[in-house]
Amino acid sequence: MRTPLIAGNWKMNGSASLVEEFGRRFADEPLPTSMDVVILPPFPYLDAARRAFEGAPLRLGAQTLNPLHSGARTGEVSGRMLKEFGVEYALAGHSERRQLYREDDEAVLDRLLAALNVDITPILCVGETLEERDAGRTMEVVLRQVGYVMARLEPDQRERVVIAYEPVWAIGTGRTATPEQAQEVMAGIRQYQAGYDRELAASLRLLYGGSMNADNAAELLAQPDIDGGLVGGASLKVDDFLAICQSAG
Ligand code: G3P
Repeated sequence: MRTPLIAGNWKMNGSASLVEEFGRRFADEPLPTSMDVVILPPFPYLDAARRAFEGAPLRLGAQTLNPLHSGARTGEVSGRMLKEFGVEYALAGHSERRQLYREDDEAVLDRLLAALNVDITPILCVGETLEERDAGRTMEVVLRQVGYVMARLEPDQRERVVIAYEPVWAIGTGRTATPEQAQEVMAGIRQYQAGYDRELAASLRLLYGGSMNADNAAELLAQPDIDGGLVGGASLKVDDFLAICQSAG
């Protein structure tokens, strides 16, 4: 049985007061016990979040990390530094990083390995553009992105990776993939992993991301191969994010 995982990617949003509000609300609200809830705030809020989340079932994540432990990388943050703030998860390959910061598959792999090397669970983000979907290339694109990384990991590393399918055309657009569309891609990813190891395929947690909200979360999370969500906009509103988490239980 895979433990549900709901992650809130705040992107370049949020505030110290929002961190505190999340800590208070999640400390008071019952959640299904066997699930992981992760908040990925901008780096400046990590320390406040660690303190605010002490009494709440909230874990910490990072939106990216530099592959190096330290060095002449102005503006960057390393996995070692993130660990000092209690970070347990980190995104690798978010479409905004692939598009805006030109992170190719090799750069994504480097960041994912850096997370594994400091025992941070990587969330590998994959997804197709609308043009690629309209051209019938969704699985080709998604499995290329998944395969580039998984083919270069050792078996014990593969089992530590979480994969998030985020169709680029659904991110921030309010246009969500249908449960059937999302399930079809997730099943394809899980079937691909079975080529390595059936147990690995059965244990991998697969998340959906792309305009998930309080209204559509339950139907998406009810799909057999969807184990959770990677939530953007709706993760900045505590009531909505709580509702999404309660849908996962
Ligand atoms: O990483 C999650 C994000 O890309 C999804 O954003 O606003 O469509 O939920 P949103």
